[in-house]
Amino acid sequence: MKILFLDQSGKPGGAELCLIDIAKPYKDNCLVGLFADGPFRDLLEQNHIPVQVLTNQSIQVRKESSLAQGLGSLGQLIPLIAKVVQKARKFDFIYANTQKALVVGALASFFSRRPLVYHLHDILSPEHFSQTNRRIAVTCANRFASLVIANSQASQAAFVAAGGRLDITEVIYNGFDPKNYQSHESDVSQIKQQLGLDGQFVVGHFSRLAPWKGQHILIEALVQCPVDVTAILVGDALFGEQDYVQHLHQQVTALGLENRVKFLGFRSDIPLLMAACDLVAHTSIAPEPFGRVIVEGMLCGKPVVAAKAGGAIELVEDGVNGFLVAPEKPDQLAQVITTCLQEPQKTATIAHNAQSTASQRFGITAINQQIAVQLNKLLPS
Ligand code: UDP
Ligand code: GLC
Repeated sequence: MKILFLDQSGKPGGAELCLIDIAKPYKDNCLVGLFADGPFRDLLEQNHIPVQVLTNQSIQVRKESSLAQGLGSLGQLIPLIAKVVQKARKFDFIYANTQKALVVGALASFFSRRPLVYHLHDILSPEHFSQTNRRIAVTCANRFASLVIANSQASQAAFVAAGGRLDITEVIYNGFDPKNYQSHESDVSQIKQQLGLDGQFVVGHFSRLAPWKGQHILIEALVQCPVDVTAILVGDALFGEQDYVQHLHQQVTALGLENRVKFLGFRSDIPLLMAACDLVAHTSIAPEPFGRVIVEGMLCGKPVVAAKAGGAIELVEDGVNGFLVAPEKPDQLAQVITTCLQEPQKTATIAHNAQSTASQRFGITAINQQIAVQLNKLLPS
């Protein structure tokens, strides 16, 4: 099976990290075409996955774009679409991993007569996308895609609610290799020492810095937690959210939490950092489409507290394999953090349950098999 993957981003967000795992089994017969250069290309190369940056022009459509802006950028896309059409002739499928990739892939699929697969990593709701963007995505998918892989039931439901065709969708969760989430005790002690975390109860937040990821909720919760609770914020603003970064720093200063909040920036050693935590917190204030960090925390054997919305509800069963709190409720979050600090035995049992259920549900081999089964159905018999 030969696959032309398309992704608009040069930066390693969750959808891009997921694509690395999906493309790996096809590395001898695939190409990942990117619409921007950046560290994601390096990661693909490190994994020996063929990659090409197909354009150097940035595509000016944002999540909140209007119809006029959307149409304006279509002209910009023509050379890129022509390039994709030409490349697609050597492949069996076009596999669009992001929304701009969907638009380009839809037209390229039409002209090259190659089936289009759309991996939907987003919740197409008004909280996340303008009406124009939702319409464009749904129209392209309905008209041109043979298969839409939704990363959760929540993403699938939002797609259908926005007018998407249920009959072409399949829910397939992100896959993970549990082996990648094991750390050596000595490395964990070393990193804790390096980061000055010894003797602290460490709550880790692992996410790009963006208002909807809700890092400010964790900072607010910290005020209500015992003083030995420290937070590490791991991640950077990937898509220009500099105002939010500044806001977070100001919030920390205003609350006098300089010694209890550490900004670590973007890191490539997530499993080790998670292992150095006592609890992993997910605090998105808009429904999370899937939430890789939730599963990663579980695979690291750490208790996870997540915001009760979107895909997170499909990953966590409150009190059984993690904790769910209402989004934007720092007091509830503080309560869970304090309980985990005070009841380590009970919390460890929950984390242990999470580690085994996550390994079973999200193993990369089984997930890739689910994708292969769906793709095979599209091949001519
Ligand atoms: N991540 C990372 N380095 C960081 C922060 C996050 O590699 O500094 C990874 C994290 O481990 C996860 C992904 O980025 O695999 C984020 O995916 P998620 O689904 O949680 O959220 P997204 O950013 O895709 O909305
Ligand atoms: C997107 C979503 C995130 C999901 C990831 C992988 O980036 O925001 O929730 O986990 O894709 O599917």
